[in-house]
Amino acid sequence: MAASEQANVIAGTEGYSDDANSLIARYESVSFTEKHAAVLHLLPARPSKVLDLGAGTGADAAWLAEKGHWVLAVEPTDPLRAAASALHPSTRIEWLADSLPSLRKTMAREESFDRVLITAVWMHLAKEEREQAMPNVASLLAPDGLLIMALRHGPAPANRRVFDVTAEETIELAERAGLKNTLKLRTDSAQPINRQAGVMWSRLAFQK
Ligand SMILES: C[S@@+](CC[C@H](N)C(=O)[O-])C[C@H]1O[C@@H](n2cnc3c(N)ncnc32)[C@H](O)[C@@H]1O
Repeated sequence: MAASEQANVIAGTEGYSDDANSLIARYESVSFTEKHAAVLHLLPARPSKVLDLGAGTGADAAWLAEKGHWVLAVEPTDPLRAAASALHPSTRIEWLADSLPSLRKTMAREESFDRVLITAVWMHLAKEEREQAMPNVASLLAPDGLLIMALRHGPAPANRRVFDVTAEETIELAERAGLKNTLKLRTDSAQPINRQAGVMWSRLAFQK
């Protein structure tokens, strides 16, 4: 890729456009209930507003929409977002091209959400970006809302921009942004290829 094109890549999304074709099948093959087994009890029973940040191919958004929730699915990588809207046409999902840490377009809507999901995205942000992002994320939560995060630990594809991010640092950032940690678990990977590679996850939840 030419240097001028590289300069336009949104920080954190490096490698995703190039790998989109293979990732689409992979992301769509993992069942929501298996992937999110540790946090299923935190999903609302009544139809609610959910914000999925870094929504990928929209598999999670589609499952939530099917359950009656309305989802704003934020995804900065164009080919993933295009695949997502084609694969999961739903009047209960809105797709938005926006990105952490500023979430400029999301914030400009002045909406709040019952659940904010950040699954396998936070490790793509550098420390200063995580520090900038957390107060923005916290401000998007409804008063009784929950932030539900999945932090990826372990080996990552060479063409991705990935940082070592701990549960402890994330909890501290969230507390600084006025959130209280209510869940902290360590789990295996639902994707067989990641499980074999030794990828582990921190599952975290926060309330206002
Ligand atoms: C490992 S995928 C996870 C996708 C989805 N959340 C899932 O669980 O299937 C990481 C996603 O984060 C997105 N991403 C990377 N950097 C981002 C940023 N700065 N802001 C928002 N999303 C970002 C990528 O485009 C990609 O869709």
